[in-house]
Amino acid sequence: RVAGNRFSSTEAAAATRSEPQGPGSEEAAAGTEISTRKKTFSKILAERREQAQRTVLINCPSKINEKKLLKYLSSHGNIKNHFFYESYGMYAVVEFSETDSIASLQDATGSVQLVDECPVPFKSRIFTITLKNPPSQASNQTPVYRHKQATIQVGELLTNLCNADSVSDQLYMLVEKYQLTEENTKLRFFTCSLIQDIASAYFPDCIVKPFGSSVNSFGKLGCDLDMFLDLDAIRKNATQRKTGPFNIDYLMKRVPSERIATQRTLYVIGEFIDNFGPGCVGVQKILNARCPLVRFSHQPSGFQCDLTANNRIALKSSELLYIYGSLDPRVRALVFSVRCWARVQAITSSIPGPWITNFSLTMMVLFFLQRRKPPIIPTLDQLKELADAEDKHVIEGHDCTFVSDLNKIKPTENTETLDVLLSDFFEYFGNFHFNKYSLNIRKGKEQNKPEASALHIQNPFEQNLNISKNVNATQLERFVSLARESAWLLQQTGKSPSSSNQRWGLAALLLTSAGNNASKGTRRKRGPASERIKGLLESLKLSAENGKRPFGTR
Ligand code: CTP
Ligand code: MG
Repeated sequence: RVAGNRFSSTEAAAATRSEPQGPGSEEAAAGTEISTRKKTFSKILAERREQAQRTVLINCPSKINEKKLLKYLSSHGNIKNHFFYESYGMYAVVEFSETDSIASLQDATGSVQLVDECPVPFKSRIFTITLKNPPSQASNQTPVYRHKQATIQVGELLTNLCNADSVSDQLYMLVEKYQLTEENTKLRFFTCSLIQDIASAYFPDCIVKPFGSSVNSFGKLGCDLDMFLDLDAIRKNATQRKTGPFNIDYLMKRVPSERIATQRTLYVIGEFIDNFGPGCVGVQKILNARCPLVRFSHQPSGFQCDLTANNRIALKSSELLYIYGSLDPRVRALVFSVRCWARVQAITSSIPGPWITNFSLTMMVLFFLQRRKPPIIPTLDQLKELADAEDKHVIEGHDCTFVSDLNKIKPTENTETLDVLLSDFFEYFGNFHFNKYSLNIRKGKEQNKPEASALHIQNPFEQNLNISKNVNATQLERFVSLARESAWLLQQTGKSPSSSNQRWGLAALLLTSAGNNASKGTRRKRGPASERIKGLLESLKLSAENGKRPFGTR
């Protein structure tokens, strides 16, 4: 369905999947004939990281001859895959078969001489190609296909949704239009590997890993890129086996706590990114946050990046969400739709504040699916029971053990349609006793609230934390009343109507504000710009405070 138009990709054959599912979907689809076994999350991530390491990014003129470019680059080594996209200019992502090819390309690369400016001589894997002789018959050339890195406009989405046959089809359609593409996922891993190159200048064995919605199977095109600087390989070396008559340790600088070590590391890497990182702009070091981070914008990829260190539990929670998202196609469909609904209704926002976050919403959907009869997804405790010795993980005293092999999890017997699930989701949370209960996905049960916050969703691993502590009563009330309204609206408009120009089902739910905007062309245009300005102001505020965690709740 979505896999057409990949004519510029040398991997076209592999891209013929019918049900793209973010990271790993290609492997899953390509493997269906040989075996239905699914790879583990960590294996998929490791493969993608290795792939990213063999990749370069080339800024090229928009009227480039694709064949000539590939031929030119092939003189440095075999090209395994490539694609084009646009972001402040045209870029080609080129994956070589061998890492050596990159060194060969770097050797043949010069640095541009400028009159008024001086380049900082840091060699990266981002290059600029210009034409020595501009082509004379450029107009005859077939333009290269550019992969989209953003979602479609809401107005177009609504029109598409109205052409579906059922609410269920609408939800699957939304996933197809909004999910991360194979190319966007590759670009995310590649961007992490560029930051890893920078951090490696200080810590040669470090790994920069994406987490959050880039890998948890719930990412939408355009979502931020959460990165984790993993220094564990270095730490492990320092406590290696001590045999023979001596103990041997590195002399290392000591600081009073791990938090301070993390802050210092991020400070230095933040400085490097700011001073030398090609294409990295708007760098802010937010080191006093509960989870210290460096935030910046990576212009060549177009990603807004959050780099953290010492945030290992978040990696496990990304894996847990990935597992839930891979168990049954209804999970992702419902999460995507609820997130989209919440965004359109301004229940969620790109600005930090007292609103519900996507992460909390996802947990609410998962909890709801655990409460179905029979349940659609297992509880975290059940996933823990299926774990084997290798799956055992205790991080900072928190038990993060759960099964990593998807093949061990029995599929659900629940056959409810998404038509029913969407409408029941709104009804369920429209009537939930938030004042009394906390949502607990470990047990798959509501529990008495341990504290007075408006919304209480227990962090599945750091069980004493509430992931929605930031949410205030007003925001929760808005969510509840919009959920009720939406349940009612679905009852009225839940079926495809005979007249074609009527918004129905999910399209009716998204209409309330988005539809109004869509019909007023000028307002729609102003929307994202004012969002950007708001975001900018908020960022300034954040950097002035140099404190609060952007997700603000931990
Ligand atoms: N996280 C957490 N507790 C929170 C907030 C975040 O453990 N209170 C972790 C989660 O693993 C989450 C990740 O940090 O997935 C990234 O946070 P964030 O970017 O806020 O959420 P995403 O899931 O990436 O969703 P979005 O698309 O909104 O970025
Ligand atoms: Mg994120």
